[in-house]
Amino acid sequence: MNDFHYKNGTLHCEDLALSTIAKKVGTPFFAYSHANLLRQIHAYQEAFSAVPHLIAFAVKANSNIAVLRLFGREGGGADIVSGGELHRALVAGIDPKRIVFAGVGKTTAEMKDALKAGILMFNIESAQELAALDACAKSLQMIAPVALRVNPNVNAQTHPYISTGLKKSKFGIEITQAASQYYIAMGLSNIKIVGIHSHIGSQLTQISPFVDTLTRVYELIKALRLEDVCIDHWDIGGGLGIVYNDEQPPSQKEIANALLPLLKKSGCQIILEPGRSMVGNAGTLVTRVIYTKKGEAKNFVVVDAGMNDLSRPSLYQAYHEIRPVVEKERIQEVVDVVGPICESGDFLAQDRKLGQVEADELLAVMSAGAYAFSMSSNYNSRPRPPEVLVRGKEFEVIRKRETLEDLLRGEQIPGYLQEGDLSL
Ligand SMILES: Cc1ncc(COP(=O)(O)O)c(C=O)c1O
Repeated sequence: MNDFHYKNGTLHCEDLALSTIAKKVGTPFFAYSHANLLRQIHAYQEAFSAVPHLIAFAVKANSNIAVLRLFGREGGGADIVSGGELHRALVAGIDPKRIVFAGVGKTTAEMKDALKAGILMFNIESAQELAALDACAKSLQMIAPVALRVNPNVNAQTHPYISTGLKKSKFGIEITQAASQYYIAMGLSNIKIVGIHSHIGSQLTQISPFVDTLTRVYELIKALRLEDVCIDHWDIGGGLGIVYNDEQPPSQKEIANALLPLLKKSGCQIILEPGRSMVGNAGTLVTRVIYTKKGEAKNFVVVDAGMNDLSRPSLYQAYHEIRPVVEKERIQEVVDVVGPICESGDFLAQDRKLGQVEADELLAVMSAGAYAFSMSSNYNSRPRPPEVLVRGKEFEVIRKRETLEDLLRGEQIPGYLQEGDLSL
């Protein structure tokens, strides 16, 4: 099933031409396919149907409340890492009993908000954080449900910036120290141990790091149970990769088949935290060519979207396929597709073979549903683009394009700088 395809020579999202959306909302814009989003959550639910499970979508991958709502209505939950993400998940109507809270730097204010909301569990990443949560819960006369995030020291075989399960990583509690932390947690009056958690990285394309991790974690679960530590929830994290270029990641079904024997044996409720694989290939960033520029060393296609809209190429040298919205015979040339930002690192593609394009044409930057808008910024004072959700031949704006007023929201000039005439 291809949700982005050419019809009558124009690239469509589902049954709607991307050029039609561009006419209505301008460029650049993000478009997401409703059908694709639905298919991803259903694929996870089907693949793991042999065990009690919760698909807690990693909100960081795409935080739009319409996307959260869509997953929530299908029975999904949320994996959050901040008070802001908690707010989004609750506004989207996600049942707090389907929310898990990870992150190495939860503040006491964030912990209190999550306690009051009644979330399913806190995934605790350090001894100090555990003590802080106990104190927070005590101050509210509540009991905090806890899983410890264990760091299994497994190489996720992915980009170092998105690898989180090695000893040197800031995430989680080293697996060798986890048991003693669980015993400490058992002695804390306002902590209730409910589970265990691990997440080793993102854009994983091999099954073996998942299996290695869960095998290590299962050994720990068994040892903990011998000491009467209650592990009912096993949060196995996210991390499944997607096809950006020529990767061959396993499917949800293939991952499930490899993991289910262990998961079943545990008797736990299984929590998954997929992000990228739920939304990555459901989205595209449509941008307009402003200029083409022929240099002595390179040819450039200058477009109206930049690293402030999609930072992954600059940040991780990530590959995103780029397709002209109008399909026709084109002479191939090698170009850099660059944005308008004043940074040499502002590119969407480098040394890319692309059909020759002209100023004013539309390009679609593919696989831009995950870690794209959610990582965007206003750098160079550029208003962020709109996001639209396409369903069949209709679309709705799910986030408006920012205005110049939005850019200045919250800023003010101190009184002592307001006097005087700058024209002198
Ligand atoms: C704790 C945690 N869970 C889940 C995810 C989602 O990972 P992915 O988008 O690769 O599925 C992340 C992402 O880094 C994470 O840090």
